[in-house]
Amino acid sequence: MRAVFITRPGGPEVLEVRESADPKPRSGEVRVRVRAAGLNFAEVMARQGLYPDAPRFPCVVGYEASGVVDALGPGVSGPAPGTRVMAMTRFGAHADVLCVPAAQAIPMPEGMGFEEAAAIPVNYLTAWHMLFRVAALRPGDRVLVHMAAGGVGIAVLQLCRTVEGVLTFGTASASKHPVLREEGCAYPIDYRARDWADEVRRLTGGEGVDLVLDPLGGGDTRKGYALLREAGRLVCYGFANLSGEGGRSYLRLATQMVRVPLFNPISLMNQNRAVAGVNMGHLWHRQELLSAEFAELMALYARGAIRPRIAATFPLERAADAHRCIQERQNVGKVLLVP
Ligand SMILES: NC(=O)c1ccc[n+]([C@@H]2O[C@H](COP(=O)([O-])OP(=O)(O)OC[C@H]3O[C@@H](n4cnc5c(N)ncnc54)[C@H](OP(=O)(O)O)[C@@H]3O)[C@@H](O)[C@H]2O)c1
Repeated sequence: MRAVFITRPGGPEVLEVRESADPKPRSGEVRVRVRAAGLNFAEVMARQGLYPDAPRFPCVVGYEASGVVDALGPGVSGPAPGTRVMAMTRFGAHADVLCVPAAQAIPMPEGMGFEEAAAIPVNYLTAWHMLFRVAALRPGDRVLVHMAAGGVGIAVLQLCRTVEGVLTFGTASASKHPVLREEGCAYPIDYRARDWADEVRRLTGGEGVDLVLDPLGGGDTRKGYALLREAGRLVCYGFANLSGEGGRSYLRLATQMVRVPLFNPISLMNQNRAVAGVNMGHLWHRQELLSAEFAELMALYARGAIRPRIAATFPLERAADAHRCIQERQNVGKVLLVP
């Protein structure tokens, strides 16, 4: 097998494709020949040494892949060899072969391509879980989402469209605004040109929004919280502000950490606000919960309500370019590695 190793924390140059013998599926597992694997912001942070959940270096990361089952471990009756599946894993997906627990290899619907299939699990489960389980999105809600042209951001916009009257505000570089509009974003905001919080206040006549989805962290979490109107919800799900151009910067880390807000239950009560956190990687073992959410997503896919937008595909040998694509903010939608 071939796999993309993060050899040590650093820039994209620390990535290396290494070959080894194919793994054998263990008890309860299936083996998948990978056709596409999702690259997520978390993995770019892992390479920079900024992702505490990552395995120890050298390591192979990757939470999701699509491919074809080619072997079953002891005690496994399916999915049968030859089945096209979407696989969810806690690391190891950036490879051409992957072993996962059988329950985490979900048969792909007919008509779905391998690239689409690899772009669904992380982005769409995260978006669905935040909007519908955690934040109980309601018709007419105003939703602010950052990194709106990224994988999760576009999934959020598409899912918001499935609820009547939801109004979305999305921050992204100006060149990406036409795509945001196509995806249903009512108010794309160029956060590089103006203060996004001032802009949301202006657009809402000072009222603010019902839901803030915050993948940025630090001072941006504080600003988002201040934008909530009564009964508003803030969902924290990332700390992209720790990531910069090169590797880990202790100065950036320290500056961002001191800006992280501390929440007081008495103020939360009096302001009628809710704050929640989401880390899907820590839910990967909750198969009953994820299966139910996945089923909802597949129903939406079947009626054409969600469609992943693929930004770019790279062979494993060009994993460094795939990382650069995200780190240098070039992507609109999902970046994939294709063995
Ligand atoms: N908690 C969870 O379970 C979970 C699951 C999935 C993702 N996440 C989080 O959700 C966020 C989005 O992830 P994703 O995979 O959807 O992102 P992505 O597709 O990799 O999005 C990258 C885009 O985000 C924007 N961006 C903002 N700050 C950036 C920075 N410091 N460095 C580089 N790009 C930056 C850039 O677009 P512009 O040009 O528009 O700025 C860039 O093109 C991340 O914080 C990630 O950690 C959390």
